[in-house]
Amino acid sequence: MSGSNKSPSWLPVMVGGIVLIAIVVIYNRGPSFDIGSNSGRGNWPEQFQSNGEQIYFTARSSSGIRINAEGGGMHMQMYQSSCVSCHGADRQGRRLMPRFWITAPALTPESLFGGHDDNSEKDGHGDHIKYDAVTLKRAITGGIDPAGNSLDREMPRWTMWQGDLADLIMYLKSPVQASSVAVK
Ligand code: HEC
Repeated sequence: MSGSNKSPSWLPVMVGGIVLIAIVVIYNRGPSFDIGSNSGRGNWPEQFQSNGEQIYFTARSSSGIRINAEGGGMHMQMYQSSCVSCHGADRQGRRLMPRFWITAPALTPESLFGGHDDNSEKDGHGDHIKYDAVTLKRAITGGIDPAGNSLDREMPRWTMWQGDLADLIMYLKSPVQASSVAVK
């Protein structure tokens, strides 16, 4: 043995192990990461209380009109999405699959309309300033946050009738129904 070979054979195994652990940790922290929730409808409302709620869950208004979207990447193509498939039935947001490093933020009244100067990257709703009805409409249809920045293309740009959009905004302003929160 020359002694110049400083990397022992177990090193790659150890590095691999650390990377694996890191991936598992990333998967499990932050907003609920729940691969099955796209198909599972266990915590969907039994009956939609409003047109806005129906649009959120089905991307179809109560008059039967489909809400169209552009963008949204692979996730959109894989799941034929409506808001619920990325932002969750509990509206708490979640990591997207397969691009799990991208988080769809929470869409609760607190996260959208409340001020949050805390370390807000952690809870997944970014560090945007408060939304109001006008800036929220612009985010949904144009993908622009209140500061004028473009949202990630994983957030689709939606096209819908003004009345449907107003109903959707009203729904997002309403508190999350207890029945929509998954029992864990
Ligand atoms: C394919 C996944 C996906 C779908 C479907 C989706 N979104 Fe999003 N949405 C995202 C992602 C990802 C972001 C974060 C973008 C960013 O941080 O730049 C986002 C951001 C947002 C924001 C900005 C929130 C914030 O904190 O700034 C709003 C509002 C929003 N979405 C509303 C909706 C509504 C309403 C629907 C249904 C009509 C919807 N989204 C459907 C993925 C999605």
